[in-house]
This record gives sequence, structure tokens and C-alpha cells, in this order.
Amino acid sequence: MDKPYIMHMITPAKNASPFDVNMACDAGWTTVIPYTDVEAAEITGLVQDAIFSRGPKGVRRTGIFIGGRDIDMAMDMLQLAREAMVPPFEVSVIADPSGAFTTAAGLVACAEHQLRKGYDADLGGQRVLVFGGTGPVGQAASVLAARAGASVSIVSHKGDAQARAVAQACMDRYAVDNIDGVDGSSDSKKEALLAEADVVFGTAKAGVQLLTTENLKAAGRLKVAGDLNAVPPLGIEGVELMDDGKPIAGLEGAVGIGALAVGNVKYQVQHALLKDMVTTEKPLYLDFQSAFDLARSYVDKT
Ligand SMILES: NC(=O)c1ccc[n+]([C@@H]2O[C@H](COP(=O)([O-])OP(=O)(O)OC[C@H]3O[C@@H](n4cnc5c(N)ncnc54)[C@H](OP(=O)(O)O)[C@@H]3O)[C@@H](O)[C@H]2O)c1
Repeated sequence: MDKPYIMHMITPAKNASPFDVNMACDAGWTTVIPYTDVEAAEITGLVQDAIFSRGPKGVRRTGIFIGGRDIDMAMDMLQLAREAMVPPFEVSVIADPSGAFTTAAGLVACAEHQLRKGYDADLGGQRVLVFGGTGPVGQAASVLAARAGASVSIVSHKGDAQARAVAQACMDRYAVDNIDGVDGSSDSKKEALLAEADVVFGTAKAGVQLLTTENLKAAGRLKVAGDLNAVPPLGIEGVELMDDGKPIAGLEGAVGIGALAVGNVKYQVQHALLKDMVTTEKPLYLDFQSAFDLARSYVDKT
């Protein structure tokens, strides 16, 4: 009997994500085992327990998925897993906490694609606002946009203290110096920010409307608005779920990218990364930069 493809799905959370279990099985992993409430200190032991029992062929059919909600914790666990390998007993590892890495990768790649298409520009030098950017998806999107050369502001609806703390933590951790944290707690504050924005991302909690058509009237130089909220009402009013570069009514030159258009790229990227882990001869270590590199090439091809 051929050895099964075993995915060890590790999460610091109470539950592994059913979404990720489905994605792993659909990509060719035949057996998916969840390990929940896992602490960073347990990663080395779990990884070394997984790698030694199956021989060289079995090692190639073994993978590790790191979930949870906290992007820094997931990156720490990915690094700890990598350091725990004992070549040739080495397996592929992917981190995608709360879908944040593949979703942020899809969002930023779609926005960059629209900038190229409509403005012959990239993210370099663009002023990017990330509403809801204190959450896991928003943090990953902020870091990716900052790495691509944008000047990024994480916008919080609770004032600037939390946003500034998260922005500083992202800069310290991911070696970028172009993220700040700003106050988006009122319509007038949001509109003042919008007046200077080239790109807007909506990455707040599902079901929250961040920007109304009235707010957007202030966005005189907006080029791209990308929204991730698939639960009514729309996160950015006027940007429909399936929009993929559709002009935003009343905003000359601006186009919208909706939650399901980004969701499609996220799906394709996560599927492809999980499949690469099945077929690779050499172990892969996949994080949000890996997801972004793939998302960029995917959107450019479509
Ligand atoms: N398409 C996909 O496959 C996919 C995958 C993953 C996630 N998503 C979507 O991506 C979005 C972000 O996910 P996430 O897990 O990062 O979100 P989250 O952690 O639930 O929320 C992100 C931020 O939303 C802000 N927020 C909460 N309540 C708010 C309110 N009433 N008004 C304004 N802002 C509010 C909070 O920031 P402040 O308190 O600092 O303002 C919070 O940090 C969600 O819509 C989610 O459904 C889509």
C-alpha cells in the first residue's frame, strides 16, 4: 500500500480551521490530523515526533500546517519547525493563520495589478490606508504593501493608540519603516485620511461597513479600493463582492476589488501552495511572502 499524504495541522487555537482542513484534502493531503491549543515550546517536540517514523519516501508525504490567529506566533512556529528538522528527515511547512497570509497576499496582489493596469504604476510611493489593519489580515497586508514600497497607515476605529502600537510591532518584526497607526474613529477623521489616499484596503471584522459613499466623496485621488468583507453590508459601499477592477460610481479613475474577487485569488494561492507541498522533492517553508509571490504571478496571468 502506498503511504498516505499526512498533514499535521498545528494551531495555538481551540480548533483547527475546517476551511483549512478542506483546502488540504482538496490539494491532495489524504490524512489531516489537528493538534490544538499548541504552545510555541511544543513545536520542536511535535515536529521531531512527526519526521522520524516514515523513511525518505514517507518524509516527502508528510507536511505541517500552522494556523491560529496571531501572525507573529505563526511566524515564530514556522521558524521553530524549520529549526527542528534533522536532514534528511525534513518536511514542508506552511503558515496561514486565520487565512491571513493567503488573503492578504491576494488583496495586495490584486491592488498592485489594478495600479499597473490603470496607472502604469506599482505600490511604490502610494499612500495606502488599511482600515481594520490591527487584525491579522490587515497586519499581513500592511507589511506586504510596505515591503512593496507604499507608505502605509493602519487605521483603527478605536483611536490611534492601538493602531500605532500594532504599526510599530509590524515594523520591528518585519524590518520595514513605512507603517504608521492613525485614528479612524469618526467620519471626519476617516475623510481627512481619505483625502490623501491612493489605495484603500478594508480588512475589518466581517459584517462591518467601514466607508460609506458619503465618506468616499473625500477620496479625490483614490485609485484602488479593495474590500474583504463578504458579510452584508459591504465593507466599502459601492465595491460589490465580485468587482474586479470595476470603476467606483462617482469616483473618477478609482476602481474596486470586492471580497469574492480577492477570495478567488486567495483560494487559488492556498490550493497551489498546499499542492506544491504534496509534489515537492525539496522541503518548502511557506509564509506570507511566498503567498504574495504566487498571488502576484497568478493575477498577472489572469
Ligand atoms: N476571503 C477570504 O478567504 C478571507 C479569509 C480570511 C479573512 N477574510 C476577511 O478578512 C477580514 C479581516 O479578517 P480578520 O480576521 O483580520 O479580522 P478581525 O481580526 O475580525 O478584525 C480586524 C479588525 O477589525 C476592526 N473592527 C472590529 N470591529 C469594528 C467596527 N465595529 N468598526 C470598525 N472596525 C472594526 C478591529 O480593529 P480596530 O478595533 O483597531 O478598528 C479589528 O482588529 C474579515 O472581513 C474576514 O471575513 C476573508
